[in-house]
Amino acid sequence: MAAVADTWGAPRSLFWLHGERPAAPVSFDEASKVWNVYGHADALRILNDPATYSSEVQRKIPIDDRLNEGNLLRMDGVPHAKLRKIVSRVFTPKVVAGLEPRIAAVTAELLDGLAGRDKFDLIEELAYPLPVIVIAELLGVPAEDRPLFKQWVDMMFHGREEIFIEADGDEKVVMNGAEEVLRYIAEHVAKRRENPGEDLLSKLVEAEVDGERLSESEIVNFGFVLLLTGHITTTMLLGNAVLCLDTYPYWQEQVRENPELIPAVIEESLRLLPPFSAVSRLTNEEVELSGQRIPANELVMVWLAAANRDEEAFPEPDTFNPARDPNNHLSFGRGVHFCLGAPLARLEGRIALEILLDRYPFLCTDPEDPPVFRPLPIMSGIDKLPLLVDT
Ligand code: HEM
Repeated sequence: MAAVADTWGAPRSLFWLHGERPAAPVSFDEASKVWNVYGHADALRILNDPATYSSEVQRKIPIDDRLNEGNLLRMDGVPHAKLRKIVSRVFTPKVVAGLEPRIAAVTAELLDGLAGRDKFDLIEELAYPLPVIVIAELLGVPAEDRPLFKQWVDMMFHGREEIFIEADGDEKVVMNGAEEVLRYIAEHVAKRRENPGEDLLSKLVEAEVDGERLSESEIVNFGFVLLLTGHITTTMLLGNAVLCLDTYPYWQEQVRENPELIPAVIEESLRLLPPFSAVSRLTNEEVELSGQRIPANELVMVWLAAANRDEEAFPEPDTFNPARDPNNHLSFGRGVHFCLGAPLARLEGRIALEILLDRYPFLCTDPEDPPVFRPLPIMSGIDKLPLLVDT
């Protein structure tokens, strides 16, 4: 198998991934006691078999209990299906499609604020605030609180070397951060109970499927997942997509001439640089993957970033090529846990790129002020992306 390059076949060395792909497609890491899985076919097998590969990793690693109830990402079987059905009722493709004019207006407003500037940080000025404003408005919490959300995201997702070590050795930090967010969301849920509106929290309070309603902690935790994971991932998607277009001027030119290529650009940047590099599972029974026997009750890390570059699934895997068809990337996961926010992330990505490229006929990274990458193995994204622009 090809190495997962820390450059991506691009003219410039850009990205730190999680290192070279080891010779074996499946390997055990003694330090973290985790089985790492790198191949596309193995990843699909795992994600499509939730009965064997459980999402309830909290059974093995100490994740604060309060974060698990109502957290779809950490649930299995009937409870997961039931909750997913309820939240899917309020977070529908129609609701998302209805956000298009608002997403366009927020993007335009944010870029209006940059009038006259020939340099700005894309993350600070657009890629971070846009998804935060959208998700805050959707949930019905004040978008002005976004410095708080940023602080929480940074506290939870920053500077950690290893997700499991993080959960194991640094539990308190995770708990402290989480407590504040949960309290914040609970306060807003209480307000919605008294004074329901058209927002998602109000709808979650009222949602009912088969005579069942969500419990308080299910609503609060679902709000938590939406608020935090729902925006930072989209921030990274936007930054990564612009970086890809900067690195591949041919494609920037193509997409400027044919804006209908934008969705393909989004998908290909998702493949090459998936915002979530990995997802974790727990084996319910002994399994065999690529000839490797894995006992029951073991943690498995599915490296989406590596699966997305498996040359057996993607010819020339390290090259950014929006024309590739099919593009069967796994960046939104697969199977029963497939990302509920994918339509929203894709919509925000498309609209933001359309408006950005339309507004700036010239746009490139600043050689004097290079991008700063998020130093975390399970996330591929940029914290700072200074751009030089001309209108
Ligand atoms: C699940 C990635 C944006 C909400 C997932 C999963 C991945 C993912 C890989 C599956 C996790 C697993 O199988 O363990 C992404 C990426 C995004 C993005 C790359 C942006 C580019 C969003 C947004 C929202 C969202 C904007 C909400 C507004 C969710 C939820 C789940 C999920 C609720 C859990 C679904 C379930 O377990 O049934 N996402 N996501 N995501 N995502 Fe996203």
